[in-house]
Amino acid sequence: MRLKILVTGAAGFIGSHTTDHLLHAGHFVIGVDNFRTGKRANLASALTNPKFIFCELDVTEESAFTEIVGQYRPDVIVHLAALVSVPESIANPALNDLLNFRTTRTVAEAARLHLVPRIVFASSAAVYGDPTHTPIPENGPTLPLSPYGSAKLASENLLLEYASRHGLVVRCQRYFNVYGPRQDPSSSYSGVISIFLDRLGRNLPATIFGDGEQTRDFISVYDVARANALAATAPGLASGVANICTEKEVSLNQLWQLLRQGFSEAPVPLHVPERPGDIRRSCGSTALAHDSFGFRSRISLEHGLRDLARQCSIE
Ligand SMILES: NC(=O)c1ccc[n+]([C@@H]2O[C@H](COP(=O)([O-])OP(=O)(O)OC[C@H]3O[C@@H](n4cnc5c(N)ncnc54)[C@H](O)[C@@H]3O)[C@@H](O)[C@H]2O)c1
Repeated sequence: MRLKILVTGAAGFIGSHTTDHLLHAGHFVIGVDNFRTGKRANLASALTNPKFIFCELDVTEESAFTEIVGQYRPDVIVHLAALVSVPESIANPALNDLLNFRTTRTVAEAARLHLVPRIVFASSAAVYGDPTHTPIPENGPTLPLSPYGSAKLASENLLLEYASRHGLVVRCQRYFNVYGPRQDPSSSYSGVISIFLDRLGRNLPATIFGDGEQTRDFISVYDVARANALAATAPGLASGVANICTEKEVSLNQLWQLLRQGFSEAPVPLHVPERPGDIRRSCGSTALAHDSFGFRSRISLEHGLRDLARQCSIE
C-alpha cells in the first residue's frame, strides 16, 4: 500500500536517505527541515520526484508544524529532526531540551490532534550509556551519560505513553553508529568513519583517542533507511523499541585497518589521550528488530566502506 509519510529532519544525513528510500518504494513524502545542519543538496534527487513535497519549517514552531500535519494528514510521521551533537547537548542543555525533547512533544501532540496512526522516532544507543555487557538487549539498563541520551530516553517514554493513552503506534529506533554518504565530517564529533575517510583523502593522519580498542557497532545508512521504512510501513505493528545495529563489534583500530586498505600510503594515526565520557564498548542485539518487523542489516562493514570510499573519490 502507498502511504503518505511526513519526515522531520528530511534534509539531514539519515533523513535524506530515508526520504529517498520511501520515494523509491512509491510512497508520498512530505519533508520538513529548517536546514540547521541539513543541506538542500541532500534532497537533490527527492526534489525531482513529483511525490515529494518540501516544507522549510522549524519543528519548534508548534502551531506551524501542527498546521502542516493537519494540512497533509500523513499516515506516519518519521521524527528525525534533532540536535545530534553530544558535546553541544552538554554545552547547551536548554537547546538540547528544546530540540530533542520539546519537538517530540510537538510531534506527539500534532499526531494526536490530527489522528496520525503511527510515529517512528530516531532514538539512539546513547540511552544505554556505558553498557556492562554486549550485545546490548533493549531491556538492558538505560543510564544515559549526556543530556542528548537523556532527552532521547525521555522522548521514547513520552511517545510510548502517548501510544498507550491515545492508541497510536510508536516505534522507537535506537540507532547505533550510522555511516554512509552525506555524513558531515566537519566536526571532531562527527561519525568517526567520515572523519577517518576525510583525513585519508587529504593524506593526513587520523586521530585515535586512547588505545583504539574501544568498540562500536557500525551500521550503513542504507540499512537504517530500510529499517525506518519497515517500521513506518509494516502492517499490524505494535508499539515498542528496537536496536538498529548489526551485532558486530569493531574496534577503532580494526576500523582504521579496514579503511586504510583503499589507500596506498596512509599516514600512521596519532594516538592522543582518551576523551572523558567516551564509552568503552558498544554493540547491540538485533533480535528484537528482527522479531518485531523483520529487520536485519544486510550491508557488511567491508562492503559499506568500499562503497563509501568509491563515492568519496568520485565527488
Ligand atoms: N548519525 C548517527 O549515527 C545517529 C545515531 C543515533 C541517533 N541518531 C539520530 O538520528 C536523527 C538524524 O540524525 P543525522 O545523523 O541524520 O543528523 P543530521 O544533523 O544530518 O540530521 C538532523 C536534521 O534535522 C534538522 N533539524 C534540526 N532541528 C530542526 C528543527 N527544529 N526543525 C526542523 N528541522 C530540524 C537538521 O537541519 C538536519 O537536517 C537524529 O534524531 C539523531 O539524534 C543519529
